[in-house]
Amino acid sequence: MKAAYINQTGPPDVIIYGELPMPVAGRTQCLIKVGAVDVNPIDIYIRSGMIPAKLSFPYILGRDLAGTVVEIGTGVKRFKPGDRVWGSNQGTDGRPGTFAEFAAVDERWLYPTPDEVSDEDVAAISLVGITAHLGLVRNAKLKAGEVLFVNGGTGGVGSSVAQIAKILSARVITTAGTPEKVEICRKLGADLAINYKTEDVDGAIRTFAPEGVNVWWESLREPNFERAIPLLAMRGRMIVMAGREARPAFPVGPFYVKGCSLHGFTVFMATPEEQQDCAEQINRWLVEGKLKANIDRVLPMSQAAAAHRLQEESTVGKTGALSGKIVLKP
Ligand SMILES: NC(=O)c1ccc[n+]([C@@H]2O[C@H](COP(=O)([O-])OP(=O)(O)OC[C@H]3O[C@@H](n4cnc5c(N)ncnc54)[C@H](OP(=O)(O)O)[C@@H]3O)[C@@H](O)[C@H]2O)c1
Repeated sequence: MKAAYINQTGPPDVIIYGELPMPVAGRTQCLIKVGAVDVNPIDIYIRSGMIPAKLSFPYILGRDLAGTVVEIGTGVKRFKPGDRVWGSNQGTDGRPGTFAEFAAVDERWLYPTPDEVSDEDVAAISLVGITAHLGLVRNAKLKAGEVLFVNGGTGGVGSSVAQIAKILSARVITTAGTPEKVEICRKLGADLAINYKTEDVDGAIRTFAPEGVNVWWESLREPNFERAIPLLAMRGRMIVMAGREARPAFPVGPFYVKGCSLHGFTVFMATPEEQQDCAEQINRWLVEGKLKANIDRVLPMSQAAAAHRLQEESTVGKTGALSGKIVLKP
C-alpha cells in the first residue's frame, strides 16, 4: 500500500510517499480502507523531532483517520466489514500512524461515522473536536450562560472550542488575524470575534464581559498569564494545552484571590472510554448540523510533505497561512 512515512526525523522533505507492507488486523483491530486523514500540529512536532518520541522506523505519520472497515479481527465486537468509521489517537504509544491507504486500528479507538457525514469532515474534526470536548466538559465544566474566551477562532482547536462552547450555550469570544477570518468566526457562531492584529482585544473582552471570562482557553504556544488572569471572572477556569517549551511568568496573587483554577491536559492521555464519550456527542452534533468541520483545503496524500510545510509555517511560524484544517486523501 501507499503511505506517507519517515525513516528519520527532520524537515518536511524527510517525508516519503511510497510503498509499505499492508497491515494485518490483530484480534481486536479493524483493517480500514482510509478515506481521509488530517494534519495536526503534533504531526509536525513528531516529524521534525521538536518533541522527542520513541519512533520505530519506517514511522507512518498521522493521528486521525476516517474510512471503511474491510476486515476485522476475531475479537472485534462493535464493527463489521462495510461499516464507516473514524478515529484518533494513532501514531503514538507504538501505534502506527494513519497517513496510508490502509490502517489497522484497535476498535476501542474507533467510532461509527454517521451516514450524513463525509470522511473529510469527520477526519478534520476528530482530534480537535475530542480535545475541545475534553477541555470544556471534563476539565472546565463549562456551564450555560458562562463566558468562554479562546484565541484563534478559525484554528483547529479554536474553531472546535468556539463551536462546542456555543452548543453548550456559553457566550463565546474569540480572535482572528484577518477580517476574513473574523467573519468565519462569526459564521461559526462566535458572539464576539475580535481582530487581534488591529483591535484592542482586552478592551473588547472587558466591554463584552464586565464580570470577567469564566473559561479562558489558551490555545497559543506562549500563554500570557499576566494578561489573561486579570480578565478572568471569580472562580474562573483556565485551560492550557499548548507550548511545551513555554515558561511564562504566573501572577499567583491575582489568580488565587479570585478562586481560579488551571487545567492542563493532552488529548493523548485521555482513556479510550473518555474519548468514546466525546465521539458520541461529536457524532450527534455533526448530524444535527450544530458542529461543522472547518477545512482550509483538501490535498492528495502524496502531497503530505507540502501539507506539513504549510501547517508548520502557519502554526509554528505564525504566518496565519491556514484558516482551518488540511485534509489529505490517499
Ligand atoms: N494538548 C492537546 O491535547 C492538544 C490538542 C490539539 C492541539 N494542541 C496544540 O494546540 C496548539 C493549537 O493547535 P491548532 O491545531 O489549533 O493550531 P492552528 O490550527 O495552527 O491554530 C493556531 C491559531 O492560533 C492563532 N494565533 C496565532 N497567533 C495568535 C496571536 N498572537 N493571538 C491570537 N491568536 C493567534 C491563529 O490565528 P490566525 O490564523 O487568525 O492568525 C490560529 O487560529 C498547537 O500548539 C497544538 O499542538 C494541543
